[in-house]
Amino acid sequence: MFISFEGIDGSGKSTQARILAEALRAEGHDVVLTREPGGSAGAEEIRRLVLEGDPDRWSAETELLLFTAARRDHLERLIEPSLAAGKIVICDRFADSTRMYQGLSRGDLRGTVDALHKMMIGREPDLTFLVDIDATTGLSRAKGRQGTEERFEDFGVELQQKMRAGFLALAQEFAARFRVIEGDRATDTIAADILARTKAALA
Ligand code: ADP
Ligand code: TYD
Repeated sequence: MFISFEGIDGSGKSTQARILAEALRAEGHDVVLTREPGGSAGAEEIRRLVLEGDPDRWSAETELLLFTAARRDHLERLIEPSLAAGKIVICDRFADSTRMYQGLSRGDLRGTVDALHKMMIGREPDLTFLVDIDATTGLSRAKGRQGTEERFEDFGVELQQKMRAGFLALAQEFAARFRVIEGDRATDTIAADILARTKAALA
């Protein structure tokens, strides 16, 4: 099974992906926990190019090519071999992030994103958790981390608001694989909700 976590910056995806991986391992599953952009050596190098520096460093189109190149490498080298070996793959962000951030953030590039996805990636997760949270809360949590990967956070709260609405619309578009999770709750409560839904999907 291939599981992805999606949502705006600071929604709690990484925290929840890690807790789910630990819970499934404790039950004897073989789990690979990974992330995008990144997850393979080449994709981690691309990560630095897209997450650091000025917001206007890349156009939306150039960014789309970089994220897709990173994803293709990650897919070839880690995701597909792991799934073929019968492992559960949990990925912190996947193609839905590209549909949002490159597809919607600066004009409407969704058609281009979908065409490139079909040509170069061609697969969706089996299950996607959308951790939904208010844009201001998300941004203040993300800013609280104080890292160097702030390029998208520096686009500001308007972008986060647009991404939140876009993700909720995407959850309706791909209703069969999406589960919308209320992210403004205690970490443990959210984790129990996600584990129950994962077990239901595995069964
Ligand atoms: P994301 O991967 O979506 O950006 P993180 O899991 O890194 O989010 O969480 C962002 C910040 O918010 C971290 O400092 C984390 O400890 C904190 N956090 C995560 N989940 C919660 C929660 N349920 N309530 C309060 N703070 C949280
Ligand atoms: P991530 O490390 O998950 O950040 P956060 O923990 O703050 O949610 O992702 C970093 C940024 O990369 C995030 O702002 C969204 C962006 N991104 C894209 O723009 N397109 C993509 O395809 C992916 C995977 C991420």
